[in-house]
Amino acid sequence: MANANQGIDTRLIHAGEPEKRICGAVSLPVFQSSTFAYAGHPGYDELKYIRMNNTPNHEVLHRKLAALENTEAALVTASGMAAISTTLLALFSPGDHILVQNCLYGGTQDFIVSDFVPLGFQFDFIDAEDPSSWAARLKPNTRGLYVETITNPLLRVGDLKALAEFAAANGLIAMIDNTFATPVNFRPAEWGYDICLHSCTKYLNGHSDIVAGAVAGKGHLLKKIAHKLIHLGGSLDPHACFLLHRGMKTLALRVRHQNRSALAIAETLAAHPAVARVNYPGLPGRPGYDRARELLEGFGGMVSFELKGGLAAAERFMQRVKIPIVAPSLGGVETLVTRPATTSHAGMSARERQAAGITDSLIRLSVGIEDTRDLRQDFEQALNG
Ligand SMILES: Cc1ncc(COP(=O)(O)O)c(C=O)c1O
Repeated sequence: MANANQGIDTRLIHAGEPEKRICGAVSLPVFQSSTFAYAGHPGYDELKYIRMNNTPNHEVLHRKLAALENTEAALVTASGMAAISTTLLALFSPGDHILVQNCLYGGTQDFIVSDFVPLGFQFDFIDAEDPSSWAARLKPNTRGLYVETITNPLLRVGDLKALAEFAAANGLIAMIDNTFATPVNFRPAEWGYDICLHSCTKYLNGHSDIVAGAVAGKGHLLKKIAHKLIHLGGSLDPHACFLLHRGMKTLALRVRHQNRSALAIAETLAAHPAVARVNYPGLPGRPGYDRARELLEGFGGMVSFELKGGLAAAERFMQRVKIPIVAPSLGGVETLVTRPATTSHAGMSARERQAAGITDSLIRLSVGIEDTRDLRQDFEQALNG
């Protein structure tokens, strides 16, 4: 069994595991059973049933995620979007106003822009890098603040410490999507965030073979979210729990390699004459670099960039690279490249993308665990061609 003083590598393997191994099994078996024998469970939420998100496969993940994020509680969900939408629907009511970072994953942004008003929720966008602008956005009914640790796809790092302090000072629930950083690089609860969200489809699972999500945070908030999840039905299938559990054990090894490799690739791109702009929080001299250094233990495996030749050059580059797969999503063992305007941010209107600074020619790179030298050589040949 792990304890809170142990390093994240140890907690990834041992935290939350059953005290007594089931039939001696070193790897937790899959409990592929929709229902379980009634044993006098005290209430509806406690009945053993997959939709209640409480099979042994769920419970080990809940304990492990809470240990990794250093939170009171955690739960897994059927997708990252299930975690995000269920959290917002559980914690807010019609009439509530939420401050939202002005550049988010396209699905989250689309949910907020398209669905908040019909739900009776109000929102305003904020620039997470400019603390002096936040107070003017507060309203008497402001109840929450929603940001991402490292934004998708421009890789900006807001003033995360000041944001959590601002939320606490104004009685707001502070929520953060920690998908890009992972608990290896940033643990939001340690900086004052109430709720931390993940698309586990990405780094936490790490093998591009499931869709899953997670919420970690304060116990009383997680109770409400778990109850709403039972109604909305976004529980994770036990087999997906099993794969997520297996993938998570190597999270720290993968993410540390991806941190190193992405930095080396960002440097290679920044030095190349065909490249107009590179977005990576770990590049010295880039706006927000000092802040990213203070906040993050590693800068992550995501890089985005623009070529001097615009859209035509971007298309040519994506056809010429040999190792990466041209595909949406991120955080897996294989390197992926995509143009967010056609994939992750296609749900936003062209005007919304333009306002957020996401051009049609922006290329996003999710660095995998291949040999860094091979990837650098491949990018150089694709840029030189
Ligand atoms: C930062 C971020 N949050 C949330 C999501 C949504 O996750 P999912 O696809 O697992 O629903 C994504 C998906 O790309 C993402 O990039």
